[in-house]
Amino acid sequence: MDQSLSDIVEEARNALAEAADGAALANAKARFLGKEGSLTARMKLLGALSGEARAAAGRELNEAKQAIETLVSGREADIARTLLEARLAQESIDVTLPGRGLGRGGLHPLTLTIARIEALFHSIGFDVADGPEIEEDFYNFTALNTPENHPARSMHDTFYVEGGLLLRTHTSPVQVRYARMHEPPIRVIAPGKTYRVDSDATHSPMFHQFEGLWIDEDISFADLKSVYADFLRRFFETDELDVRFRPSYFPFTEPSAEIDIRFPDGPLAGRWLEVSGSGQVHPNVVRNFGLDPERYIGFAFGSGIERLAMLRYGVGDLRLFYENDLRFLQQFNR
Ligand code: DAH
Repeated sequence: MDQSLSDIVEEARNALAEAADGAALANAKARFLGKEGSLTARMKLLGALSGEARAAAGRELNEAKQAIETLVSGREADIARTLLEARLAQESIDVTLPGRGLGRGGLHPLTLTIARIEALFHSIGFDVADGPEIEEDFYNFTALNTPENHPARSMHDTFYVEGGLLLRTHTSPVQVRYARMHEPPIRVIAPGKTYRVDSDATHSPMFHQFEGLWIDEDISFADLKSVYADFLRRFFETDELDVRFRPSYFPFTEPSAEIDIRFPDGPLAGRWLEVSGSGQVHPNVVRNFGLDPERYIGFAFGSGIERLAMLRYGVGDLRLFYENDLRFLQQFNR
């Protein structure tokens, strides 16, 4: 009983001030207010006093206890604030830093090219059709005036699959499928995947073509020239483009022509570049459409989509289209 109550409160003030976290604070509190605490010990002695003395001592003890409890809650608040400040300092966000940016997806350049081709032909009244990639020999060859053992079949190195089927070597079979289901006038393009046993820097076993067909009673080679040349100038967005029709051979057209273009300037300036096969649809093919070749006539063409995309975007290597390297693809996200 030598220590005065105010000394105990003072001692508690110092001990609590030293407690740096919740656990240390609980220990310090116990030293005074716990079961074995120094103030608690004093309380236990109250029973020995009586009357006035006991009431007075009790009041003083309660005041001391309350003083320590106030110190404890004050210290508790201090510790909580210190911890919060430390956490905020650590987690602080510099809102002036540049953002990370969201990776935005985009359409593949070949998809963009197909959409552009479709839009251009749609604007002059062409329908857009598609057909199966696993095709019957009949549609891929026979109906296109290329019967079995015809030497032109060897122009296409064909992937054959089970059941006498094959992977279509061109989009031309869609001509036959579409024409058999529609009445003239027939105006259609058919973009899609085609397959040939071929793989090097300029050939891929899978590539894209789009087929075009216009059949009516009086469609001539002159219409082919104007439709295709106009398409090319709109596709490349320039009137400064030379277009040439060079005599060629396809079993399904007669006469046949290869279509070449030449840019007056740019990296390819002055070189003739082949972009399409074409021709006036062969009477045998018109017959296979289920139409009378004496009455119906027209033209067809089949163009390489990768070729057109490479020329339009200035892509130098065909394989870039299939590698899906984001550094390449992102350049088309516009
Ligand atoms: N199918 C031919 C090829 O893949 C391209 C072609 C040429 C298509 C002339 C046609 C055409 O429709 O009339 O090489």
